[in-house]
Order: sequence, then C-alpha cells, then structure tokens
Amino acid sequence: MKRIAVLLSGRGSNLEAIAESVQSGRIPDAEIAIVVSNRENAPGLEKARPRGLEAVVIPSKGRQREEYDREVVALLEAKKVDLVCLAGFMRLLSPYFVERFRNRILNIHPALLPAFAGLEAQRQAVEWGVKYSGCTVHFVDENLDAGPIIVQAVVPVHDDDTEETLAARILREEHRIYTEAINLVLSGKFRIEGRRVIRTG
Ligand code: GRF
Repeated sequence: MKRIAVLLSGRGSNLEAIAESVQSGRIPDAEIAIVVSNRENAPGLEKARPRGLEAVVIPSKGRQREEYDREVVALLEAKKVDLVCLAGFMRLLSPYFVERFRNRILNIHPALLPAFAGLEAQRQAVEWGVKYSGCTVHFVDENLDAGPIIVQAVVPVHDDDTEETLAARILREEHRIYTEAINLVLSGKFRIEGRRVIRTG
C-alpha cells in the first residue's frame, strides 16, 4: 500500500479528486496518509475530514522556509509517506524538502508549462490571447513550477472566456490528469532523462 500526502493551502478540489480516485480504485493500492495545510482556514481541510482523512494545519506565516519544511518533512516521514502531492500549496519548497523526497513530489499547475508559471495562470493565459491552454503535473524541484513534466492536458480558450470560465474548463482536466500522473509515478514505470519523463511500461 503506497502512502500519499496531500499538501494544500485553499479550496481542495484536487484533494477531493485524488481522494475519490483512491476510494474508487482508480488509484489502486494506495491511501491518503495525511493532508497538510499551511493555512488554518483552508476550505480543503473540511473536504478532508468528512472523508475520514487525517488533516493537520502547520501554519507557515512568519516561518523561515527551511525551518518550516523540516517540520513538515518530519511529519511526512513519521507517516511513512511515499509520495507528496502538492494541490494548491502556495509555497516554494526548500532544497532540504526536495532532497528528502527527490522525484517523489508532484505539483499541478493550471497552464501548459513552461507558459504562464506563477500565480493567476488562467488570467495570464486569457490576457496573453493564447488559443489553447491547459494544465501540467510535474515533479517538483527547488524552482517555481519548473521540474520535469509528467502529464499535460490541453483545453481551448474561447473568445468569450473569462479567467473564471477558463479556470473551470482547466480544473476538470486537472482532476483527471492528477490521477493519471499519480498512477504513473506510483507504478515506477518511467525514467527521467534530463527534463524528459519517459514511460517504460
Ligand atoms: C489549482 O488550479 C491548481 O492547478 C493550482 O492551485 C489550484 C488549487 O485548486 N496549483 P484546489 O485547491 O485543488 O481546488
């Protein structure tokens, strides 16, 4: 049984999607061992608890990055976590954290990286005028939205789209590809060559 940690700061819809995939067997032989929020009032906490998931708050406000990460890593190691899924976790990870879970941390970003990294990716896409955007699940390294890409999905941008309508279209794909990426990584059927994640199974 593989043990997944989900780290979040907000709404928690990706957490819900992952939890449903685990529950329904779309992510087989896995469980969510812990949910961690760095914000006390994150709505995602209340999505976790009714499902019987252990959800804890480790407030990050005013903390040094590595000192904070050491506390989170200690918890994840105590919970014997195999895979860390960032799901709207609004903090950059320290080299310490990345090293301890090298190639075992995933993030989801609501754009086709390397386009529109950083905040408000859907707004950036609308304002830039791209005709297609999407989402990306990638391995996490020390840099923002930067590690090797595991899965992407493309969605069209319509002329009458707003940031909100585009975000909703992308979100449906986020929920689908996060499960796909988790399955690939947990299966171990891939290798990383430079920046390329290559399926081997
Ligand atoms: C998603 O759009 C994700 O791509 C980004 O943050 C948002 C989190 O949404 N990293 P939720 O909290 O999973 O609903």
